[in-house]
Amino acid sequence: SLLTAVQLALGEVIGAYAIAILDKEHPDEIVAARKSSPLVVGIGEDEFFLASDATPIVEYTDKVVYLEDGEIAVINRGEELKVVDLNNVEMTPEVKKVELNLGQLEKGGYPHFMLKEIFEQPDCIHDCMRGRINVDADNVVLSAVIDNKERLLSAKRFIIVACGTSWHAGLIGKQLIESFCRIPVEVEYASEFRYRDPVINEQDVVIAISQSGETADTLAAVELAKSRGAFIYGICNAIGSSIPRATHTGSYIHVGPEIGVASTKAFTGQVTVLAMLALTLAKEKGTIDERYYLSVVRELNQIPEKMKEVLKLNDKLAELSKTFTYAHNFIYLGRGYSYPVALEGALKLKEISYIHAEGYPAAEMKHGPIALIDAEMPVVVIATQNALYEKVLSNIQEIKARKGRVIAFVTKGDMVISQIADCSIELPETIECLNPLITTVPLQLLAYHIAVCKGMDVDQPRNLAKSVTVE
Ligand code: G6P
Repeated sequence: SLLTAVQLALGEVIGAYAIAILDKEHPDEIVAARKSSPLVVGIGEDEFFLASDATPIVEYTDKVVYLEDGEIAVINRGEELKVVDLNNVEMTPEVKKVELNLGQLEKGGYPHFMLKEIFEQPDCIHDCMRGRINVDADNVVLSAVIDNKERLLSAKRFIIVACGTSWHAGLIGKQLIESFCRIPVEVEYASEFRYRDPVINEQDVVIAISQSGETADTLAAVELAKSRGAFIYGICNAIGSSIPRATHTGSYIHVGPEIGVASTKAFTGQVTVLAMLALTLAKEKGTIDERYYLSVVRELNQIPEKMKEVLKLNDKLAELSKTFTYAHNFIYLGRGYSYPVALEGALKLKEISYIHAEGYPAAEMKHGPIALIDAEMPVVVIATQNALYEKVLSNIQEIKARKGRVIAFVTKGDMVISQIADCSIELPETIECLNPLITTVPLQLLAYHIAVCKGMDVDQPRNLAKSVTVE
């Protein structure tokens, strides 16, 4: 039978796959199987669907079965779904209900999903904090932290594994956790971590960050850390995806489906969850000053309103972006919490406009990138008020002395940098550790508008995929 043939063949297959097989002699049967790559079976009325996640299926049915590695789905016209393993042992498929609505999968009047997703951020952050920050905004609780309190509090070290934009969120998470909880945090590219025989102890907690929950390298890093006894905490968006299923516990970011390939709202959602995680842990550990804790929680609660203010800059940023479509290179600079923001701003620009962009910690500029600065070079500087403001100011002076063109993102009311920079964009003030939630948004808009001006396919840039389910 087709099933037996597939079972035998898969015994010899090496590597990751998600496949659906038909026999032209028996067109009423489909056999589907997966290993490492995701595969979902949608169950409709007298019909079935196969896809890599639930998003494309939800238009037809909200009932899905997530296949696990080694499981084979046998679909026959007019019959119920049957699931067996490679040895033909039948298993009971667990049917899950997908909580997605179609509106979330449409552009809702926006020209691109990316712009829609940028504009959704105030609501997304609100949804992300719902039920986690109390109504008085004086307490934040992530239930996964409380439920696993002992394990998390006894951790000697945290290791964050992620790829792409999620890795940038991880860099911010490191600063948040280290500063609030005084626990060392390492941030690793999942693709490097999985192959370099890392030192992992049973007391370690590994935090896996992934929007899709399907990134092959991040999933493999999770499996590796799990096999070495670490406790795994997932921070994901796609509900029921592979990474949350592979972790011991975790927190969803709840920002709704992200369709644009360049990640936007997932990043701010990840940073929000990381801030809540650091706050919850620090309070339990007693490592955070009560007044400071309160001020961060209160400010977190204000972020959606402040993001709305930032979004009002959209027209200004659209206008500004026209000036920079000539550029072949961009430099993004930031320090402290703004350094990962500089990396993320540069990544957004290169992903969708195909302009080469480098993010750098501002102080490192003198060790190389300063050689690139001339009258043609646009330099984006995240120069909001923080402990290192004066130092960033002198970095800007160094760039101007070499005739670079500075686009500065400053705190509202900043009169100093506005005088020196070629252009300065004023942003609402917030507490330093939450600054990335504000400063990332205009960088997303800048990248978006430059790409649109250049006529690029913003939602589906060339050579990129939304979920990288292969190595
Ligand atoms: C791809 C996407 C990026 C994303 C990265 C990690 O490269 O294009 O936007 O940041 O994968 O994806 P994840 O789903 O694990 O966050």
